[in-house]
Amino acid sequence: MQQTDFLVIGSGIAGLTYALKVADHFPEKKVLVVTKAAADETNTKYAQGGIAVVNDPVHDSFEKHIEDTLVAGDGLCNRQVVEMVVKEGPERVSEIIRWGANFDKEADGDYKLGREGGHSEYRILHHKDVTGKEMERALLDAVSRKKNIEIIKHCFVVDIITQHHLGYLVTKSTPDIECYGVYVLNLHENKIEKILAKITLLATGGNGQVYRTTTNPAIATGDGVSMAYRAKGRIENMEFIQFHPTALFEPGIRGQSFLITEAVRGDGGILRNKHGEAFMERYDERKDLAPRDIVARAIDNEMKRNGTEHVYLDCRHMDPLNFTEHFPNIYQKCLSIGIDISKDMIPVAPAAHYMCGGIKTDEWGRSSIKHLYACGECSSTGLHGANRLASNSLLEAMVFAHRCYTDSVKQVGDISINTAIPDWNAMGTSEPQEMILITQSLKELQQIMTDYVGIVRNDIRLQRASRRLDLLWEETENLYKSSVVSPQLVELRNMITVGYLIVKGASFRKESRGLHYNTDYPGKSDLVQNIVL
Ligand code: FAD
Ligand code: SIN
Repeated sequence: MQQTDFLVIGSGIAGLTYALKVADHFPEKKVLVVTKAAADETNTKYAQGGIAVVNDPVHDSFEKHIEDTLVAGDGLCNRQVVEMVVKEGPERVSEIIRWGANFDKEADGDYKLGREGGHSEYRILHHKDVTGKEMERALLDAVSRKKNIEIIKHCFVVDIITQHHLGYLVTKSTPDIECYGVYVLNLHENKIEKILAKITLLATGGNGQVYRTTTNPAIATGDGVSMAYRAKGRIENMEFIQFHPTALFEPGIRGQSFLITEAVRGDGGILRNKHGEAFMERYDERKDLAPRDIVARAIDNEMKRNGTEHVYLDCRHMDPLNFTEHFPNIYQKCLSIGIDISKDMIPVAPAAHYMCGGIKTDEWGRSSIKHLYACGECSSTGLHGANRLASNSLLEAMVFAHRCYTDSVKQVGDISINTAIPDWNAMGTSEPQEMILITQSLKELQQIMTDYVGIVRNDIRLQRASRRLDLLWEETENLYKSSVVSPQLVELRNMITVGYLIVKGASFRKESRGLHYNTDYPGKSDLVQNIVL
């Protein structure tokens, strides 16, 4: 058993930014960061395009960034939160630059600014096409310089501890549900331990692995949302799953697909269908740089109309030197599979990319459970509404990590550790006979979500998904109750929960808004509401 004042779950941009700030504030207190994989294996590491922030006061303004965010969010953003994130953004970005992150510069020393879908100005700071890798590196380097931050790798958080584990009945209407820490599966020793904490921050990232193809790495299984939901915390807007329009199409690939950043379209890349037609002008006057929901739906439609598994991104007209300078990683990846971007078009298809909803928080990152904060992709702060504006995610994570830090350092003095927490009870469980059952169920889940709860939905599809998920849930619960806990089993259970929450949110939303498009309700409802589960 470990005890700590500050427990951080997740070592991406949200978790590490928070940890650095708290550690700086309280040099005498230890900050514990746990992560289920290697320290840098996060969605953050794979971010390509960059971070949206107002940096050029001559052409850009807070008002423009705010307006772009609100337009992309399709009527569902919380304006107050949008204003706050956009205005606090520059200070947070300066901070990560001070910690050592490098963003590309022009010869005159000004930052190079990129552009992506839905942005009215060039405002994306980037490090070539590997921005996330550079930011994660800088954060981990800064953490390594702090003596009072400990990162425990390969440590899998299974559940949040609340009054439920003390034998009390906890329901959604229980007032003052409290978080006392977490149960973790120590993957080195293969046993469940408890970590007790005064303050716990969930920074567990996204859930792309719920779908058959995703830009997200294997860690993105929605664990934080699922744990918070089991602990009776409030979850909102889960139906808004963002599909990135342009993941590289490689036949037969399941799971993580390589991303072709939207910044390629920002620099002039053009989407074409199998007939070579630049089809985006038929869908939106902003053409290839329309917000992501519109572009992904247009591609989905073109693929269905033409019976193809992908469309193309045409970069042949772009200056090859500029391309290789801005996108060296994409250039190399394409070359490695025989695509020379100066001669060949890149086959691309939409893939699950970002969870816009998540654990509902207030403007300080506080969840509905006391002493439990949520930050980064696992949270739902009100910034993204029905569709996240490109490159607003890294920004949100940093702004809210700062806010979680500001609030939690004020609260920590009034909280004491609850030492009455029982050990994990593994009575009556045994090693699962067949691991293959878990992998088969996972494939089924991904198939159900892709076929019935993808870019375009309708009521019959959602009902089908719901019935199939019920069966998968029942089978998995039986396995869970009788088996010794393994990461694969817990992840499967979490992903089914997340699938259920997406279907539930989608079924409640009787309209089409942002990323949720239901052909039975093609218009927007007058009732503008968040769906809280
Ligand atoms: P992550 O960085 O995903 O970190 C999650 C952490 O939680 C990991 O350390 C993981 O191991 C840990 N974890 C999860 N579950 C458990 C558990 N049960 N126990 C212990 N640890 C756990 N956004 C932008 O703004 N700009 C971009 O250019 C951009 N490009 C992107 C490109 C790609 C390919 C992808 C996938 C995403 C991109 N995004 C971009 C989105 C952005 O990268 C993510 O939303 C953001 O990095 C999430 O950060 P995070 O700290 O919330 O989570
Ligand atoms: C991209 O680079 O296209 C991804 C940007 C994002 O998800 O914000």
